[in-house]
Amino acid sequence: MSIHIGAKQGEIASTVLMPGDPLRAKHIAETMLEDAVCFNEVRGMLGFTGHYEDKRVSVMGSGMGIPTLSIYVNELVQEYQVKTLIRVGTCGALQPELKIGDIVLPMSSSTNSHINRLRFRGMDYAPTANFPLLLKAYEKAKELGATVYVGGMFASDTFYNDDPDWWKLWAAYGALVVEMETSGLYTLAAKFKVDALSVLTVSDSLISREEATAQQRERSFTQMAKIALEIAP
Ligand code: HPA
Repeated sequence: MSIHIGAKQGEIASTVLMPGDPLRAKHIAETMLEDAVCFNEVRGMLGFTGHYEDKRVSVMGSGMGIPTLSIYVNELVQEYQVKTLIRVGTCGALQPELKIGDIVLPMSSSTNSHINRLRFRGMDYAPTANFPLLLKAYEKAKELGATVYVGGMFASDTFYNDDPDWWKLWAAYGALVVEMETSGLYTLAAKFKVDALSVLTVSDSLISREEATAQQRERSFTQMAKIALEIAP
């Protein structure tokens, strides 16, 4: 057991898929994995280990935001020897060509989070994806007929902002989407020398203010989880 994860040693696979929502983790375990067993209920952050085809894979919620995700990533890697982390989550589009349901594979992530400023004593760090995972995910997304974009993104510490135009600066510099975790995930993966990728689906647009319907969310979530499971080593 670690501080925030109740699993015994050996109960977590070396690859972990991480949706933000623990109920999404449960849904993936119940609908896409064989023989899934729950390994964590601490703080309701459900985690399961099962099989996808012949691969042993775990899936566990990360919570929302870099601080929460960082707690789980630290413990998964340091206490449970996890080697590959694949976030499956939603994001908001910052570019007009991105449509609801499109897949985005962030190559790198800018952020307004102060965590890396603290870590790097005021200097900037450029967190990047693991390239072999990124390439595999791109090829798999194409094979599945998804519309897929690869590029930079922005990880925000705030979902609700006082300034409605806050995102336009990042959009002007080419950030494809905004979410709240990837910069933290990629930084910790680099620190611990493990492999990480975010596989995102567009759930809303900051330009058109359009939002995914429940049906669109379900369909794109399944597609995103399938890509993640297919590329899992
Ligand atoms: N902002 C931040 N995170 C998000 C968004 C958003 O618009 N959509 C999905 N995750």
